[in-house]
Amino acid sequence: MHSCNMIQLLIAALCCTIASATQCPSGPPSTNTTSGGMVYTYPYPIRYAQLQTQHQSLCQAYMDVSPPSTANTSYSGPQRTVVLLHGKNFCGATWNATAEVLLSQGYRVVLPDQIGFCKSDKPDAYQFSLQQFALNTKTILNSLNLTSVYVLGHSMGGMLATRFSLMYPDLVAGLMLVNPIGLEDWKAKGVPYLSIDNIYTTERASNYSSIRGYEQATYYVNSWKPAYDVWVNMLLAVYNGSRAEIYAFDQALVTDMVMTQPIAYEFGGLANTPTLLMIGEKDNTAIGKQWSPPAVAAKLGNYTALGRATADAIGENCTYVPFADLGHAPQIQEPDRFHDAVLQWLGNH
Ligand SMILES: *[C@@H]1O[C@H](CO)[C@@H](O)[C@H](O)[C@H]1NC(C)=O
Ligand SMILES: *[C@@H]1O[C@H](CO)[C@@H](O)[C@H](O)[C@H]1NC(C)=O
Ligand SMILES: *[C@@H]1O[C@H](CO)[C@@H](O)[C@H](O)[C@H]1NC(C)=O
Ligand SMILES: *[C@@H]1O[C@H](CO)[C@@H](O)[C@H](O)[C@H]1NC(C)=O
Ligand SMILES: *[C@@H]1O[C@H](CO)[C@@H](O)[C@H](O)[C@H]1NC(C)=O
Ligand SMILES: *[C@@H]1O[C@H](CO)[C@@H](O)[C@H](O)[C@H]1NC(C)=O
Ligand SMILES: *[C@@H]1O[C@H](CO)[C@@H](O)[C@H](O)[C@H]1NC(C)=O
Ligand SMILES: *[C@@H]1O[C@H](CO)[C@@H](O)[C@H](O)[C@H]1NC(C)=O
Repeated sequence: MHSCNMIQLLIAALCCTIASATQCPSGPPSTNTTSGGMVYTYPYPIRYAQLQTQHQSLCQAYMDVSPPSTANTSYSGPQRTVVLLHGKNFCGATWNATAEVLLSQGYRVVLPDQIGFCKSDKPDAYQFSLQQFALNTKTILNSLNLTSVYVLGHSMGGMLATRFSLMYPDLVAGLMLVNPIGLEDWKAKGVPYLSIDNIYTTERASNYSSIRGYEQATYYVNSWKPAYDVWVNMLLAVYNGSRAEIYAFDQALVTDMVMTQPIAYEFGGLANTPTLLMIGEKDNTAIGKQWSPPAVAAKLGNYTALGRATADAIGENCTYVPFADLGHAPQIQEPDRFHDAVLQWLGNH
């Protein structure tokens, strides 16, 4: 009995030691921190959720901003919140213009950086899954006592927003997707498997020209504006930051995640979810296209066809807004048109 107590005490002491060694930054939220191995200034204060996940204690960064007193007051119902989910090459901070517009109209905004991304921890090893990201995101919302939110996801964040809505329909008042990926199952269309080690090598070789070249061709319909450089340099801050190697490895795991965890078959599950699907039809994003035979690559990333088919699969609760002339990131390319679509839909839901 005595020795049992001793062991319990020992375990308790050990647990406390581990917990305190992995304490997330506390104190006043900060707009400039080097957390996540990234020196980059965020538009709003950063907070951290302490996640106990997969035998690790990890810090997930997020911004949580309430509307200013000057916000549009024509809506008088309960406080509405929009959770904005970033894609693979963006961060929570990339939503700054959208956050500003939503705040001005009285919405509260929550902007997480997923684990392995941007200001969040980059674990040496992690079982990345869309379900795990959804659970982590829900943990943050729980800690904020949010029980009903609108979710807006871009690219991989759209894939995540879809998974989140399928897992937690009661939490989701409405779903907004802008050029989500995962509208087709790349592997089923013939994209060969590429090892994580191979993807890692490519990730490690990322530099200004490789990132810009990719974004120019997929995001911006082959055009470039100086303002787009901000998002290339933001990403470079992580690729070239103090966690560069682990970041590249985590990103390789994330690429493997989106390749091997298709969501294309499940859009019918959103039939009861009010959904806004916005598609820049000049997008051509397709994971694995770069390492596919030309005959396979040619069949991938036709967003005119994929957008329409996805809207049909969701059904009559989907509002479909195609942008015929825009690429993978309408919110950056034509923010005014994008925000008009978002606000108009939110106003009706
Ligand atoms: C942010 O803080 C770091 C030190 O933590 C500093 O090196 C960096 O210059 C700061 N960046 C800006 C933009 O203020
Ligand atoms: C305020 O909100 C109303 C209703 O949502 C909208 O019609 C109006 O244009 C908004 N006003 C401004 C200044 O944004
Ligand atoms: C968003 O952040 C970028 C980078 O800091 C900045 O260039 C841009 O002006 C910001 N836009 C808005 C609307 O805040
Ligand atoms: C959430 O609710 C609990 C229980 O009512 C309360 O103790 C806690 O302070 C709340 N947290 C926030 C962030 O509002
Ligand atoms: C940038 O990366 C690309 C692809 O990895 C490589 O071909 C190119 O030489 C690199 N450029 C510089 C300036 O390092
Ligand atoms: C960051 O870039 C510089 C210059 O290209 C390079 O010398 C350095 O090794 C890079 N650091 C990391 C952590 O990748
Ligand atoms: C649309 O959503 C509503 C409310 O969730 C639901 O009652 C209705 O059946 C849905 N429509 C279809 C075609 O599933
Ligand atoms: C893409 O899909 C559209 C609509 O189904 C079709 O008209 C068009 O020919 C397709 N484009 C290519 C390059 O296959």
